[in-house]
Amino acid sequence: MAADEPLVLGIETSCDETGVGIVHGTTLLADAVASSVDTHARFGGVVPEIASRAHLEAMVPTIERALKTAGISAKDLDGIAVTAGPGLAGALLVGVSAAKAYAYALGKPLYGVNHLASHICVDQLEHGKLPEPTMALLVSGGHSSLLLSSDITSDVRPMGATIDDAAGEAFDKIARVLDLGFPGGPVIDRLAKEGDPKAIAFPRGLSGSRDPAYDFSFSGLKTAVARWIEAKRAAGEDVPVRDVAASFQEAVVDVLTRKAVRACKDEGVDHLMIGGGVAANSRLRALAQERCERAGIRLRVPRPGLCTDNGAMVAALGSEMVARNRPASDLELSADSSLPVTDPHVPGAHHHDHAHDHDHVHEVSKENLYS
Ligand code: KG4
Ligand code: ZN
Repeated sequence: MAADEPLVLGIETSCDETGVGIVHGTTLLADAVASSVDTHARFGGVVPEIASRAHLEAMVPTIERALKTAGISAKDLDGIAVTAGPGLAGALLVGVSAAKAYAYALGKPLYGVNHLASHICVDQLEHGKLPEPTMALLVSGGHSSLLLSSDITSDVRPMGATIDDAAGEAFDKIARVLDLGFPGGPVIDRLAKEGDPKAIAFPRGLSGSRDPAYDFSFSGLKTAVARWIEAKRAAGEDVPVRDVAASFQEAVVDVLTRKAVRACKDEGVDHLMIGGGVAANSRLRALAQERCERAGIRLRVPRPGLCTDNGAMVAALGSEMVARNRPASDLELSADSSLPVTDPHVPGAHHHDHAHDHDHVHEVSKENLYS
């Protein structure tokens, strides 16, 4: 670790985890997370207003905890990074406001970064610099996409995405049908280990020869599983929960890994990374490893704690932004709940990037329309 590597604090509040991470180069110094997941559990999903309030309460203590763990003082930082989007608007706003306040008070550059690019970049903390290019499969409760990146600070290309539910959402919904609680992924993962993945042949979405090669669909699978369970219950039979969990999980991870490996082969990319909360799934990891090995692809999956939403991933991308001299955001940075995946960060308005001239014109005219 070189002494001149950037020291960056990252703030993540796009959903229900208040995450604050501190990174030095690609070394993780602190990863403090305060989750409001328990408060949402009884509603069966994340309630945006509750999440925003929880972020507000957790923000300063979580930042202080991270600084203490890292053993640094805020004035030593080279920059403050924050998730600018995509995510829940009100939740993002809390993180962006906090990051702006700290950046202003400390006189440090501010980097508004993309949540999805952060999920990819976090792997640098575990496995070193990302190979360029890298194919990334991001699977969580909010997103399921295949992305190709040749430089995580400037080039993220969408290859495919879900056309309906996110992969994690499917886990959560099936868990609800089975009365297993929220979030559903971890408990299905656990039960599936004792079930037979071949017990029930559930459909593989968008897997026909005429279907888009890299897009995903999980809503048909979700309906098929729910109907199957209903039919069992209507017939007065016991639902074989472990077999249902294993067969459902197999249908999801079969499609995810097949399409990811196919994208790598088609694009001649020999590194695949998997991130997002569903990347914690043990069967997804095992099947991806098996299929990558067979195809001569190197698989990179961060440890589960770095796959779910956290501040370390934001700090990791912020650190890379500083290392590559990317322009900082300005203090007028606003949260963008639908920040495009193609924007790894939000450079300040004074920064002139010819490649994005067209988008700026578009944004300005859209703004005029509503004001
Ligand atoms: O990345 P994340 O923490 O938050 C979002 O950005 O959504 O992902 C949460 C999602 C939830 O849907 C949860 O059920 C799923 O990740 N998940 C899992 C596992 N652990 C978490 N899904 C399958 N298997 C797991 N072991
Ligand atoms: Zn996420």
